[in-house]
Amino acid sequence: MIRFGPRQEDQTSTSRSRHRWSRLVPMLALVGVVVLLSGCGSEVVQPYSHITPQTEKANDIQTLYKITFWAALIVFVGVQAAILYTALRFRRRNEDRPEQVHGSRKLEIAWTVIPAVILLVLFIPNAQVIFKHAAAEQGPDKFDVDVIGKQWWWEFRYRDIPADPNNPDAGPLVTANEALLPVGVDVVFHVTSNNVIHSFWVPQLSGKVDVIPGHDNPLQFVASTPGDYFGECAEFCGSAHAWMRFKVKIVPEENFDAWVTAWRTPPASDANTETADVMEAPPAFGACLACHRVNGTNAAVALEGMPGLSGYVQGANETIGVSAEDQETDATGSEIVPGPGPNLTLLACRDTIGAGLLENTPENMERWLKHTDEVKEGVYMPNYYEQGAINDEQVAELVTYLQSLKPADGCPDEGLLVGGQVPQAEVEATDPRPNSGNGTPVAQ
Ligand code: CUA
Repeated sequence: MIRFGPRQEDQTSTSRSRHRWSRLVPMLALVGVVVLLSGCGSEVVQPYSHITPQTEKANDIQTLYKITFWAALIVFVGVQAAILYTALRFRRRNEDRPEQVHGSRKLEIAWTVIPAVILLVLFIPNAQVIFKHAAAEQGPDKFDVDVIGKQWWWEFRYRDIPADPNNPDAGPLVTANEALLPVGVDVVFHVTSNNVIHSFWVPQLSGKVDVIPGHDNPLQFVASTPGDYFGECAEFCGSAHAWMRFKVKIVPEENFDAWVTAWRTPPASDANTETADVMEAPPAFGACLACHRVNGTNAAVALEGMPGLSGYVQGANETIGVSAEDQETDATGSEIVPGPGPNLTLLACRDTIGAGLLENTPENMERWLKHTDEVKEGVYMPNYYEQGAINDEQVAELVTYLQSLKPADGCPDEGLLVGGQVPQAEVEATDPRPNSGNGTPVAQ
């Protein structure tokens, strides 16, 4: 039977259900917003998220995020409300063809102007922040540090801090994966790579910056709270991309100075060495010297920085830049030059080994030396143990030696707020990889 109009009882039920919806919709919207915002507790420190910024720069970025978030939420709620309203208000009640409408000047102006306003609301603060941050990268009195993305770890080169004040040719102080910085200084990281493209990101300190061969990409910030700030590579760069983590440790100035002094001082000799001279280190360490340096010893023959660039091989403070020519002379066939390994000076003071992969303990060091490529798939460090070039006894000697690479009176950042900013327990995770041993915790 064909009906030509709603019956009386239909109208009643329609108005009843409309009444029900008018109460239900705002309730649902409220529940949705509460669920969304429950993830934003400011109490929880999230070292790998930008939502707990610790510098003015990161805070600027957070503000932009908030503006975008709220603008998107308003648009979302508005659009959903309009859809719901339209669906309910104009739902089919009979078989009549609804009134056809063509062109509405008011509507067309509205849906042109509203998005334009929304885009302006987003564009103006974004542009302001971009120019503000670009300006902050310029100027004198910057604390310049070169950062080189390697496969798969990070090298930090302190441009203005000579490795040896009496020998300018010795190049700058160099460290890997854990960069100490004095609190409150105006830092500019000059980020580059001699292999593939990475992305350098310490969410609580600043935004991401692409790590591109041949480019010196600056990244500026001022950190005024001591603590450990966690960073990671944020762009897929090969098999061990996920294990290219690092820390920026902001410490009081006196601790930083102590660290520099310790870095320049030969390591304490409680290992197999009387003089701390690397010639006195276990003979097996000789195999490591092709790629690793230990400052304060004569273990300073391995290449560092950007191989092929005289500035870096010599260690002088020359500008970063990889010309196409350099790239070609660097490259061995189609392979990317992996470059030398991390500088091991003060290695025993680092929290992790393998670029954030394992906690720096003697047990993990042994595991690392014996099963390097199993622990970190794709790593360029040859596995001398499995190749039979070094035996258990030699590994044990190496572990003792490497664990002795720290100042006699303790590490300069020991007992500081380090970790206070980011409680260690909150960022601990169990190693997710198969065959990863007895569930050794992976501390970041
Ligand atoms: Cu380097 Cu991902």
